[in-house]
Amino acid sequence: MILFENVTKTYPRTTRPALDDVNLEIARGEFAFVVGTSGSGKSTMMQLVMKEQDVTRGRILVAGRDLDRLPERKVPALRREIGCVFQDFRLLPNKTVFQNVAYALQVLGSSRARIRQTVPETLELVGLEGMEKRLPHQLSGGEQQRVAIARAFVNRPPILLADEPTGNLDPDTSLGIVQLLDRINRTGTTVVMATHDTVTVNAMRKRVIRLDRGVLISDMEAGDYTTGSIPRVRLEETSGRSSAEPEVSDGFDDADPAAYAGDHHGDDHGDEPDGDAAGEQSATMAPIGRDADAPRAKGGIFRRHKAVQTSDR
Ligand SMILES: Nc1ncnc2c1ncn2[C@@H]1O[C@H](COP(=O)(O)OP(=O)(O)OP(=O)(O)O)[C@@H](O)[C@H]1O
Ligand SMILES: [Mg+2]
Repeated sequence: MILFENVTKTYPRTTRPALDDVNLEIARGEFAFVVGTSGSGKSTMMQLVMKEQDVTRGRILVAGRDLDRLPERKVPALRREIGCVFQDFRLLPNKTVFQNVAYALQVLGSSRARIRQTVPETLELVGLEGMEKRLPHQLSGGEQQRVAIARAFVNRPPILLADEPTGNLDPDTSLGIVQLLDRINRTGTTVVMATHDTVTVNAMRKRVIRLDRGVLISDMEAGDYTTGSIPRVRLEETSGRSSAEPEVSDGFDDADPAAYAGDHHGDDHGDEPDGDAAGEQSATMAPIGRDADAPRAKGGIFRRHKAVQTSDR
């Protein structure tokens, strides 16, 4: 669903890359945190996925599209498949909760009937039923963020990016927001959340991708910042050296197709749209396998071990 191959991003008039040779695969239906100190490249990663920035080197595939080759006229279609949530909510201040969410459908040309049906459903999903007529300033920060999430999700995009969505919220409220993103993830939407919020990350036991000054330094399954994490990849593998065996079993080598049921053929390079993602959740953690003819990074895409969660998803 999202694939970074040797991605480097250097902004103009800077010396150090904001992202430095990042290799990464996030499969359909996954929930991944991106963590790292300020300036480590989290927002840059999100902006590259949205094609708000272009890579300096390397390649990014999003929902089957090679972003470098995507003509400008197809960028809106890409962005329709990606809901975005930000730290500062970015609601329209003079529009009600309902109107804020409906607006996202109106700009896509949705019918009134669809808007009348989908907006209330989505507000209910985010826990805001009964608040349709309020203006943003009549809501708490957590409620405003729920509106923003409803707006990002109302057209059921296959991907939801959240850049520090809890940055302005207290810990309890933050946890509620992340649990809401988890609920959205369970509908089949791939969720990527950049955050500094260690407490929330540790509570959720999801994949944790860690950046340090633009370098992807770790990728943990069901991770936290400190102990008890299972490495998803050995660092050597990110640089293409493959002398040693992984410490944990590797999803590609194990002849256990059942563990990868619901593989996402065509996902990263197929032509079919991914708008059908909802409800297609694999029975396991998001699958690893990619088509045999799928493009590979020179140094090798992360080889990942079998999912540790045989979750209820
Ligand atoms: N538009 C830009 N022009 C030049 N440099 C930029 C631009 N945007 C980001 N950078 C630089 O790229 C690096 C990564 O920034 P980025 O915003 O991706 O970090 P971040 O991890 O999101 O940080 P934070 O946690 O503070 O949001 C930083 O050194 C930053 O100064
Ligand atoms: Mg940022």
